[in-house]
Amino acid sequence: MADLLEVRNVSVRFGGVQALSEAALTVRQGDITSLIGPNGAGKTTLLGVVSGAVTPTGGTVRLAGQDLSGLPIHLRAQAGVVRTFQNLEIFSNMTALENVMTGAHMKAGYSMLDSLLHTPRFTREEKRLRELAMEKLEFVGLAERRDALASDLPYGEQRLLELARAMASGPRLLLLDEPAAGMNNKETAGLGTIIRRIRDELHIGVALVEHDMELVMDISDRITVLHFGSVLAEGTPKEIQDNPDVVAAYLGED
Ligand SMILES: Nc1ncnc2c1ncn2[C@@H]1O[C@H](COP(=O)(O)OP(=O)(O)OP(=O)(O)O)[C@@H](O)[C@H]1O
Ligand SMILES: [Mg+2]
Repeated sequence: MADLLEVRNVSVRFGGVQALSEAALTVRQGDITSLIGPNGAGKTTLLGVVSGAVTPTGGTVRLAGQDLSGLPIHLRAQAGVVRTFQNLEIFSNMTALENVMTGAHMKAGYSMLDSLLHTPRFTREEKRLRELAMEKLEFVGLAERRDALASDLPYGEQRLLELARAMASGPRLLLLDEPAAGMNNKETAGLGTIIRRIRDELHIGVALVEHDMELVMDISDRITVLHFGSVLAEGTPKEIQDNPDVVAAYLGED
């Protein structure tokens, strides 16, 4: 069986900056793969290449064997590639439930006309999407916050809300860009449990970009280390921790 995500030989230039040089990333079916590396290594750029937000100068991106090259963001999302953002992107003037419903709407089975005319199909679908969104809020532990304005939630809960919204759009592969940023230790531990359950109960592949090494070492099946836009190492958490190049380039950096 093909790997869920296979990124090969991807290069990206931003003006004078070579952000990625022949970078690679693999997420196997049912795995959490973390992408780590120092600031500016190219992690967010690589997630952008997978989601379709960044166009590489070369290389290939495959989802379960299907070449995604040239597909725009919304078609990759429909194929099952969904991301969250390093700089939290939620709708602060909507409730928690409404935020998650915007994710579910991608799968809506009604047309614009249905929604304008409030046809029975619209009403039925809207109910289904609301239930699906509630299910995702429950999954991340925010069910009782459904009617709270997103901007009124503590930061850690806003991060979980963004995750719930991404899950509502029915991903096969979730790309998480520093989901623990700004969380305290307890929130980070809770997030780790949720990401594990995404893998184990929902069988969604996860590509995790994260600076919190405790979380990364705890939940990752595989780790890829980026350094100056290239892959420095790839392996299990143990192999990565014991790799002297990684220690020199990154883990020993503090
Ligand atoms: N849109 C852009 N235009 C110009 N340069 C960019 C752009 N996006 C990223 N870069 C540059 O590309 C390189 C890789 O950036 P990227 O954001 O992918 O790193 P990162 O590994 O995610 O870092 P961090 O850990 O700080 O989030 C950096 O040198 C960055 O300044
Ligand atoms: Mg980044």
